[in-house]
Amino acid sequence: MTFAASANAVAYTGAETVFVDCQVEDGNVDPDLLIEAVDTLRAEGTQVVAAMTVDLFGRACDYDQIESDLGARGVPLLEDAAESLGATYRGRPAGSFGAAAALSFNGNKIMTTSGGGMLLSDDSRLIEHARKLSTQAREPVPWYEHTEVGYNYRMSNILAALGRGQLTRLDRMIQRRHSIRRRYVEALADLPLRFLGVRPERGDESDNCWLTTAVIESNRIDVNDVLADLEGRGIEARHLWKPMHLQPVYTSDRFFGSTHGESLFRRGLTLPSGSALTDDDIDTVIAALRDALISLR
Ligand SMILES: Cc1ncc(COP(=O)(O)O)c(C=O)c1O
Repeated sequence: MTFAASANAVAYTGAETVFVDCQVEDGNVDPDLLIEAVDTLRAEGTQVVAAMTVDLFGRACDYDQIESDLGARGVPLLEDAAESLGATYRGRPAGSFGAAAALSFNGNKIMTTSGGGMLLSDDSRLIEHARKLSTQAREPVPWYEHTEVGYNYRMSNILAALGRGQLTRLDRMIQRRHSIRRRYVEALADLPLRFLGVRPERGDESDNCWLTTAVIESNRIDVNDVLADLEGRGIEARHLWKPMHLQPVYTSDRFFGSTHGESLFRRGLTLPSGSALTDDDIDTVIAALRDALISLR
């Protein structure tokens, strides 16, 4: 359950992608299934080069179990923290798990440089190598010398300056996302909606609330009708990510799991969540969603 970029990053390397189903509570990977996939592949003689987790919709995965189970098997972990900047898991920040993590500063994220992102790691050699590859793999000599194939993946200094400006406002923007989520959850509590990521036992503060997402818990209401109804009222809401194992480009790849991701896709929707929305804007969305769900019930 993720955006195609997570899987594409694996495909670029020439490795094979193998997909693992998510848990229904928040759309993050099911840790038991992840380890089952690793053990099964290894038992079949397949080399498992790495495991990648995605902190979906701004919520970190269950890293206690994932880190210890992968660590015991010597499988490196890579964290796709594109959506989870500012989230925490048991006091540790998203982006600090595994061998390396990636953040996205794409235009739809809490903090944006309009495009680009950041690679995070405690391994300075890995970072140095990534920095070199991101700048066309130039060797440190006075002429253009290349011993490996590089990329033009660096962030321009102008965009980096934009990002540094936004960092000073990051806490406030995250707080705003929290209050938007709270407003939706409180105002729509009586409707057949289950909000993802609200896990009281882990505390709401662990979630950066980047995106407020919900699943319609009524078989009589079709999410497509809800989205069309909202669109008719000038409100853009969207489906949740379509799981990667159902994407035509990846359907021939291996998948471990059942229908959790698929059911989130078939019944879920994302609600307007931008930090710049006013309380009145949110109330307009709430009223429209209430009307739509009641009229379609
Ligand atoms: C989970 C996830 N991974 C990766 C990306 C890709 O990030 P970027 O657009 O910065 O390449 C995104 C969103 O854009 C995302 O939501």
